[in-house]
Amino acid sequence: MLRIVHRIGILIGPKGRGSNMLALAARIKLDDSMVVQKVVTPRSDAPGALAALAEGLRVETVPYLDPVPYEQRLAAELADCDWVCLAGYMKLLPSSVLAAHSGRILNIHPALLPKFGGQGMYGIRVHEAVLAAGETESGCTVHFVTEEYDEGEIILQARCRVEIDDSPEELAARVLRLEHETYYRALKKVVDGAGN
Ligand code: GRF
Repeated sequence: MLRIVHRIGILIGPKGRGSNMLALAARIKLDDSMVVQKVVTPRSDAPGALAALAEGLRVETVPYLDPVPYEQRLAAELADCDWVCLAGYMKLLPSSVLAAHSGRILNIHPALLPKFGGQGMYGIRVHEAVLAAGETESGCTVHFVTEEYDEGEIILQARCRVEIDDSPEELAARVLRLEHETYYRALKKVVDGAGN
C-alpha cells in the first residue's frame, strides 16, 4: 500500500530563534508519516535559519518585499508543502497563501487563547500581560491560522502554573518548554485526522 508522507513547511520570522522549528523538526524526524519539506525565512541570517541549516534542513529565503512579489514568492515556495507551521512568524499571511492551504496552516501562541492574543501581543509582552492580569495559569495554544491574528480554531492547548513571584522571563521559559512538546502533538493530531 502506498504510504503517504505529509510534507511540512515551517515558516519562521526574521529574528526568530527557531526553537519551536527545531523541536518540531526533531519530532518529525522520528515520524515516518511526515517530513520537513523546508524552512522558509524572510532573512537568510535569521538565527533560526542558521540553526535549520546546521540541522541539515532545506532553507529557503523569501524576503519581505513589496506586497505583491512577496505574496507570489511565498505562495510559490509553499506550493510543495501539504501543511504549514508558523513558528515565530509574526505577520498576517497573504490571502492567496491562506486559500492555497486552507485549514492546513497552524500557529503556536505562548498563552491560553482567546486571552492574551491579537495584534501586538507577542514575545515578552504576552507574559507581562498574563502576570499583570494576576493569572494563576498560563500555557500555549496551537490553532489554525486565519486572516486575523490568533483567531482560528484551537487545535490543542497545554497549561502550566504561574508562580506568584514569576518574572516575565521565567514564565516565558516555562511556557516555551511546553510549546516544544505541544506543537508536534497538535500537528500530529490534525495530520492524522486528515488521513491523506
Ligand atoms: C514562540 O513563543 C511562539 O509561541 C511565538 O513565537 C515564539 C517563537 O519562538 N509564536 P522560537 O523562535 O520558536 O524560539
